[in-house]
Amino acid sequence: MDEQEPCRTPLSELVSLAGRVAVVTGAAHGVGAAIATRLVEAGARVVLADLDVTGADAVAAALCSAHDGEMVAVGGGVDVSSSTSMAALVARTVECFGRLDIWVNNAGVYPRAGLLSMTDDQWLKVLDINLNGVFYGSRAAANEMVGRSEGGVIVNVSSASAFRAPASDLAHYVASKAGVVGLTRALATELGPHGIRVLSVAPILVPTANALALLEGQGGADAVSATAARVPLRRVPQADDIARVVFFAVSGLAGMVSGSTLLVDGGQLSG
Ligand SMILES: NC(=O)c1ccc[n+]([C@@H]2O[C@H](COP(=O)([O-])OP(=O)(O)OC[C@H]3O[C@@H](n4cnc5c(N)ncnc54)[C@H](O)[C@@H]3O)[C@@H](O)[C@H]2O)c1
Repeated sequence: MDEQEPCRTPLSELVSLAGRVAVVTGAAHGVGAAIATRLVEAGARVVLADLDVTGADAVAAALCSAHDGEMVAVGGGVDVSSSTSMAALVARTVECFGRLDIWVNNAGVYPRAGLLSMTDDQWLKVLDINLNGVFYGSRAAANEMVGRSEGGVIVNVSSASAFRAPASDLAHYVASKAGVVGLTRALATELGPHGIRVLSVAPILVPTANALALLEGQGGADAVSATAARVPLRRVPQADDIARVVFFAVSGLAGMVSGSTLLVDGGQLSG
């Protein structure tokens, strides 16, 4: 490609996702729903993939009433911790929309469990969804993208806890999210020659309904305020703050960004 080409590309083209097809896992709630909403707004056709079919249907209904109904499809009953389910999701996406350009590995769980009493099953479940799920999804997506030879973008939702553990009782979660950061670098190196960029996004606490439920026993809204007070920007990110960064990552604006983890921390980890 002409090295100067990006300088001549109009900004409106760099931020448009028209003609692109995206999959967002964990799109039925929280951060995933916000990501899907921004991608549809930018013109992408999006598959909402989640275990929770009812939740994904509700997000799809809201997006369809705000946009062209043909922009959205629901990949209900998708389990990111199953490689078969991930391969089927890619096949369904191509069947439905004809191609695959953007893959967002967002689905994740964050149950608390102290190390001393953590069972093997508790450890493995979190690793299965948060880390193995990113591997299964990325491999399935990359096979389709490499086969089509038109490049693509994979974004993995990690966590700032991969860099600084925020609380105890999350060893399995922290390990899984640190693994996602390493996997992102490895995949960026391996897939770069195919024109596929791979990035991760690492937020601090985002007060989604499920994150707030987790904080119930630790002060709930007060815990959120206490976290916000420690952030240089004096607030915690909302789901849409993460969605905007994911949008940047998949857009032409980030055409030369790969392998990086973009912190969405309001400056917290700089101190
Ligand atoms: N909320 C936070 O404070 C925070 C902070 C840093 C990182 N993150 C990460 O952001 C992502 C989204 O977090 P959130 O707060 O929006 O979570 P959430 O619980 O609101 O939503 C997660 C979604 O993933 C789906 N899901 C769970 N297991 C699945 C599976 N096996 N297969 C398919 N879908 C599955 C759930 O049904 C749900 O819709 C997660 O990866 C999380 O670790 C969240």
